Amino acid sequence: MQTINQDLANQAPVNTSLSIIPPLFQQVCVIGLGLIGASLAQAIRDNHLSKRLVAVDRHLPSIEEAIAQGLLDAGSAVLSDVVSGSDLIVIAVPVQAAQAVFSDIKAAMDNGQLATDCIITDVCSTKVNIIEAAQAVFTSLPVGLVPAHPIAGAENSGYHARRSNLFVNHSVIICELPTTRVSAINKLRQLWEAVGATVMPMAAAHHDSILAHTSHLPHLLAFNLVEQLASHNDNLDMFRYAAGGFRDFTRIAASDPKMWHDIFFANQSAIVSALDEYSVYLQDIRQLIIDKDSTALMGLLGRAQAARRHFGHMLASTPYTDTSAMSASYNITPSNTVIGTIAIPGDKSISHRSIMLGSLATGVTHVTGFLEGEDALATLQAFRDMGVTIEGPDKGRLTIHGVGMNGLKPSKTPLYMGNSGTSMRLLAGILAAQKFDSVLTGDTSLNKRPMERVASPLREMGAVIQSTGHNGTSPLSITGRDNVGKPLHGIDYDMPVASAQIKSCLLLAGLWAEGTTTVTQPEISRDHTERMLSAFGYPVTVDGNRISIEGGGTLTGGDIAVPADISSAAFFMVAAAISQGSELTLTQVGINPTRTGIIDILKLMNADITLSNETYVGGEPVADITIRSSNLVGIEIPEALVPLAIDEFPVLFIAASCAQGRTVLTGAKELRVKESDRIAVMADGLQTLGVDCTVTEDGLIIEGQGSNSQSDEVNNSQPVFGGGHIVSHHDHRIAMSFAVASLRASKQITIEGVETVNTSFPGFAELASQIGMNIEVNKGVDNSIDNA
Ligand code: S3P
Repeated sequence: MQTINQDLANQAPVNTSLSIIPPLFQQVCVIGLGLIGASLAQAIRDNHLSKRLVAVDRHLPSIEEAIAQGLLDAGSAVLSDVVSGSDLIVIAVPVQAAQAVFSDIKAAMDNGQLATDCIITDVCSTKVNIIEAAQAVFTSLPVGLVPAHPIAGAENSGYHARRSNLFVNHSVIICELPTTRVSAINKLRQLWEAVGATVMPMAAAHHDSILAHTSHLPHLLAFNLVEQLASHNDNLDMFRYAAGGFRDFTRIAASDPKMWHDIFFANQSAIVSALDEYSVYLQDIRQLIIDKDSTALMGLLGRAQAARRHFGHMLASTPYTDTSAMSASYNITPSNTVIGTIAIPGDKSISHRSIMLGSLATGVTHVTGFLEGEDALATLQAFRDMGVTIEGPDKGRLTIHGVGMNGLKPSKTPLYMGNSGTSMRLLAGILAAQKFDSVLTGDTSLNKRPMERVASPLREMGAVIQSTGHNGTSPLSITGRDNVGKPLHGIDYDMPVASAQIKSCLLLAGLWAEGTTTVTQPEISRDHTERMLSAFGYPVTVDGNRISIEGGGTLTGGDIAVPADISSAAFFMVAAAISQGSELTLTQVGINPTRTGIIDILKLMNADITLSNETYVGGEPVADITIRSSNLVGIEIPEALVPLAIDEFPVLFIAASCAQGRTVLTGAKELRVKESDRIAVMADGLQTLGVDCTVTEDGLIIEGQGSNSQSDEVNNSQPVFGGGHIVSHHDHRIAMSFAVASLRASKQITIEGVETVNTSFPGFAELASQIGMNIEVNKGVDNSIDNA
């Protein structure tokens, strides 16, 4: 048979700068130059991973073209023509043809053309049948056999559709057989990683079952739906009026029928069982429609919609809302004055708790003013994952169909908490008491934050909980009570830090514990959990800093109106205080006394703040807050106020920079374990903008640069900050604080990594612009299609 050879001297694309790294292979032989085979060949060539590259394909024009283009050193339609001396063979033919290829490889081994330990891999979509095909040919499986499957593809197929970067950021599943040499597995892993892929080991049967559900079943359904519509008598109208849904759903039915025919047979048993499972789900939803079961149908549809979004974000560790804001930045040009009356979004802490208690209550809970930010949405998703039907959110409105104290169901996947420490710590308490096992995980930032602070006291209550990250961090693995064999028991716990999250976690666990759970806090921390438990009819005893709860009670659903978040209002309070001629009114902001540290501290700094229209909303005090420009003065912040303003320090540091004289913060070590180390990150940013500050172990000393005018007249016209580039460390409050600094900046401030602003304050930039700030939002790359 004809062998085609390239004139190497003329055409080999050798990159001498890379020749120091020896290629991984002496000769790679790719069998099949379709999309995947040719793309891998191109990636091997471009990345200089093999000294020689040869290919086998029945379609000789492709071989000739590949040689002419410098992709191949040699090629043929027959394996024995080119295979000699190969140390890697890649089988890239349709699954049904694999056995014949194995026979050719065996023949080459038998006649000495190939070493018996040569690495043999494939790129086929099914794995069990590849192993069976090898078994049918070889008496014992070759030590170099590593079945693999790159999860990558493209709309077009064939040699001309090849792309060297097809595998970049895609997964490759490798089946590590017990008969295979470890060095062969490692070398193949190196190859895939060198072409940009992420390698994941998986047993062959598991691979086939996963792919049956995620790829084969959807293709089968798409083909079948087109067939169903095409068979109708009025099929012309059906197709003529088929809208986006039909087109989207059936796009994959344009794929190669022969390939899918082969795959359906090659993975027969896994596909049949995926299909059986699908039929059950189809019957169930059919019945819901017949029964007009609105709650259950809404539950199913809502869960499915949210799960689809959730999986994309979970796998990519990206935020829940507005993926187009990924790696977003703010460019802020200085402005002087802020004026207006604005409504701030709902309180984050109360929004979390409304989902938790609403889900555990009996009856329906209606929530208004719910914060549709990433963090609260993470809590919402977690309860949906545990089977709770939640309608909304729709303009801050939610309807939660409570399942009662024992109605949560195990989530089928780890519960993903995104960036939200509150979700993870409070849920840890709830889940430690449930009958079933759970896993809690979060994004990269959350998975670095301390979780032993809740895990350790929960263990004292009898919980079986492991913080499986490094140094007591998440993922958290929680064993259900059914496996532990007995319920939690109450404890009397002295909290080492004034943390509302630890307190709430233990009180929530205490709802199911035998006896009394008592927590004593060193200082007062926010008390929304205690208030909302009482509002849901669950008795809580508060005796100074000692809070106790008896296990075994029930919660009754009702209406919750979430007030505006004082932590979000804080940015605009400082904005008005530090700028010239400003006056802002923030309507119906929560002024729970455990949250008003920001007002007290700003007042100590001489800020002009008045409260009006004070009333109660859903058991929480609220007021309109009006704040005007003032000559701020530096102060020593009383340590007792620290827990009451714990989230507001980043923006208070901006206020302190604009005050006259020094501000000293002590007793605030907790700031180091928030979404970022807020002491270090703020100090870095302030220094970038020219502010003199000194970091201490538990706080910060800031030399304020406000005017030292003795008159009462407000003089906030001089810039305090220069311009510069700020890195937010993906911490929402850092980003918003430096945005506020722009009101006293001499030049433009750019803030990098502002996508996390959505965790607590969706719409921040729009609101800031509305009152007179000049914020330009640069949205990052939209990855949502890839992630979906
Ligand atoms: C929160 C408590 C605070 C706060 C967080 C929300 C809550 O954390 O920083 O943003 O909702 O309970 P700690 O209780 O750990 O200080």
